[in-house]
Amino acid sequence: MIKIFGKINKSLTKGNWNTTLSSKNEFDDFMLKEIYEQPSALKETIESRINLNKPCNFNELEDIKKILGTFDHIYMVACGTAMHAGIAVKKLYEKLLNIPVTVEIASEFRYQNPIINKKTLAIFISQSGETADTIAALKLAKEKNATTICISNVIGSTITRYSDYSLYTHAGPEIAVASTKAYTSQIMLLGILAIYFAENMQSAPESIIKELKEELLIIPNKINEILNNTQTIKSFAKEAANKKDVFFIGRGIDYAVALEGSLKLKEISYIHSEAYPSGELKHGPIALIENGTIVVSIITDSNLAEKSINNVQEVITRGANVFVITNQELPDFDYNEIIHIPKTNTLISPMLSIIPLQLFSYYIAKEKKLDVDKPRNLAKSVTVE
Ligand code: M6R
Repeated sequence: MIKIFGKINKSLTKGNWNTTLSSKNEFDDFMLKEIYEQPSALKETIESRINLNKPCNFNELEDIKKILGTFDHIYMVACGTAMHAGIAVKKLYEKLLNIPVTVEIASEFRYQNPIINKKTLAIFISQSGETADTIAALKLAKEKNATTICISNVIGSTITRYSDYSLYTHAGPEIAVASTKAYTSQIMLLGILAIYFAENMQSAPESIIKELKEELLIIPNKINEILNNTQTIKSFAKEAANKKDVFFIGRGIDYAVALEGSLKLKEISYIHSEAYPSGELKHGPIALIENGTIVVSIITDSNLAEKSINNVQEVITRGANVFVITNQELPDFDYNEIIHIPKTNTLISPMLSIIPLQLFSYYIAKEKKLDVDKPRNLAKSVTVE
């Protein structure tokens, strides 16, 4: 059966990938190269979209401007790391637009009879643009009259051909199976998009918009600072490499990052790991903490720091070895290692707090002498449902 999906607004987009981007250069693995490419990849994502003195620039979205005020619900739909990027920006959208956002796993979304109508804006996120479940979810949203936008890294990919509007991350080719620069560039692009919507809808104070724009522009430099100081991460990775389980914990936006850190570790090091909201530990999983269990705690929200520390104390009491990633001045407590990352607005902090976690997984996999770029049982793009 042939289905017609209505008018699609597309402009011509030229690719800028070259052979330097598709070779390892001086790096041992594509994954490490792609981790280190994040500052330059994000500059490409930002390119010409943010201007401090003017509204953000999305020429591709001119037609959507006039109906922005009609949306009463936003869906973000994706798989794996791309879905985690959606979770990472949910709070930013809700704060700036005052519209509820639901982030859904594409393979679940399709079978849950989601409430979608012409007041729905559905955003589909996919590095490859070829993920079967995400494409099927997009087709469902179109059938139900949602306005659809896709965020992809691959020009002309299938998802971009079905979406009403296509936005590109321009992160350059991502070759390692474990996604790194695609994640941060998706958050960057989604962040700029949220600001663009808020500017057009006048739904957020100018001071917040200005601060966010200034912060987004300096994220690449702040990532560089983290990448230039990896010794502590390496030594903790060495300690964790022979463990069977690792827990990632955080509250609020830090829980979003915990999810992605845990996925990275599973994928490339084959260590079982769980991500939990810190406050939820005592409702079950704390039973698994014993002498030497590794717990990675992310603390970047000053409003939640004290409560997070209390949760960390609970696992330390039960013998856990704790690795803290923070941008706060924390009181002294009995952690094993601490990484200080630069401060930024909490709503966009995942782009910084994920970097030590990407490196942590990478160094563990190297310590175990695993094939980092091609982990077992996984493919770069999942084109079957
Ligand atoms: O190409 P996509 O972004 O649609 O891929 C979605 C997931 O398959 C992908 O993010 C997967 O989880 C990665 N291997 C994670 O590192």
